[in-house]
Amino acid sequence: PLVLIVNGPNLNMLGKRQPEVYGHQTLADIETAAAAHAESLGLDMEFHQSNHEGDLVDWIQGARGRAAGIILNAGAFTHTSVALLDALMAAEVVCVEVHLSNIHQREEFRHHSFVSKAAKGMICGFGSHGYILALDALARLIKES
Ligand code: DQA
Repeated sequence: PLVLIVNGPNLNMLGKRQPEVYGHQTLADIETAAAAHAESLGLDMEFHQSNHEGDLVDWIQGARGRAAGIILNAGAFTHTSVALLDALMAAEVVCVEVHLSNIHQREEFRHHSFVSKAAKGMICGFGSHGYILALDALARLIKES
């Protein structure tokens, strides 16, 4: 089974970007750890990042009929994007939402997520380990389905 990990804007800056909030690991570090964990779970993995909303829409649409699951950290588009919500609903692929930071401890405008309406569940506040937790959750959901 194929799992897509889709990352949104500014996540290419991880490691340099507000490390007190997002940690010291780079996105490449996260990809390496996720790839090893996916393999141990018997999952194929594709890892994507873009600063452009339409790229995320395209990857999510492309998951339909092709991927067994999506792990989505939409970055700031989480809080703004009806287009990502619509893409997830159209894709009909189980989605686990991830955030490095605990968005509920932060500014009010980060508390609402459009993505959550189409996600099976959300993991936030565990830093880069959230991607590993999300893979575990997806592997179980895929096995059950
Ligand atoms: C984030 C949280 C968002 O509010 C923020 O805009 C991000 C990263 C996180 O992983 O904690 O870019 O999704």
